[in-house]
Amino acid sequence: MIDHQIIIAIDGHSSCGKSTIAKAVAVRFGYIFIDSGAMYRAVTLYALRHNLIIDGEVKREELIGALPEIRIDFRYNPERQRSDTFLNGENVEEEIRQLTVSQNVSPVATIAEVRKAMVRFQQEMGRNKGIVMDGRDIGTVVFPDAEFKLFVTASTEIRAKRRFDELKSKGENVSFDEILQNIMERDRIDSTRKASPLRKADDALVLDNSDMTREEQMEWVIRNVEEKLEGTSSKFQVPGSR
Ligand code: CDP
Repeated sequence: MIDHQIIIAIDGHSSCGKSTIAKAVAVRFGYIFIDSGAMYRAVTLYALRHNLIIDGEVKREELIGALPEIRIDFRYNPERQRSDTFLNGENVEEEIRQLTVSQNVSPVATIAEVRKAMVRFQQEMGRNKGIVMDGRDIGTVVFPDAEFKLFVTASTEIRAKRRFDELKSKGENVSFDEILQNIMERDRIDSTRKASPLRKADDALVLDNSDMTREEQMEWVIRNVEEKLEGTSSKFQVPGSR
């Protein structure tokens, strides 16, 4: 039996199913799942509500000044088998997924002070391991020593199609082109920003799921995590004890 716990870091491009993978891995191994993007989305929602973003322009200094007023926490929702995101005590899980937030989140996530505050909180949550976290800088900055690192990607069109279907099924009135533009723009900002740009950690496994079904993908990921767990657990075994 494998009874030690590790940190699983999942990074990658926008809308390639990182959260779906992270959630399933967490359920499978009984780990905590943290969606770090939800934190940047919650900060963005706060900024939008307080008029700290006007026509896509973030009032940087004012937002940095407001950081002490922004309290984010996650509370487990058994129905969804994952946590809901709370902003200053309010459940904002639905609202942070809307396109308005997606369209403004990447500029907010370029601000080094915002990142510093989020990363501190993320590292705190991972202190006892047994955690799966997905984002853009988890394997590179937040948990550079994570035992298992995955970098997920898929073609831009496929990602846009998946996100389009998801928002449509929730009743959001969006166009495919709008989604495609948003994904390309976020990829561009996330990859070129100065503070912790999106990049694959040298020791991350790459998963391109463009042509994979969800089942194939999950089987592949779970098998690789299991191999990693078996590999790391053998280090603690007394030779000849098997
Ligand atoms: O929509 P998607 O699931 O692709 O994105 P997300 O994981 O919800 O993250 C939203 C945005 O937050 C990203 O486009 C990044 O700009 C930012 N982010 C980040 O900078 N660092 C992270 N660790 C997670 C998200």
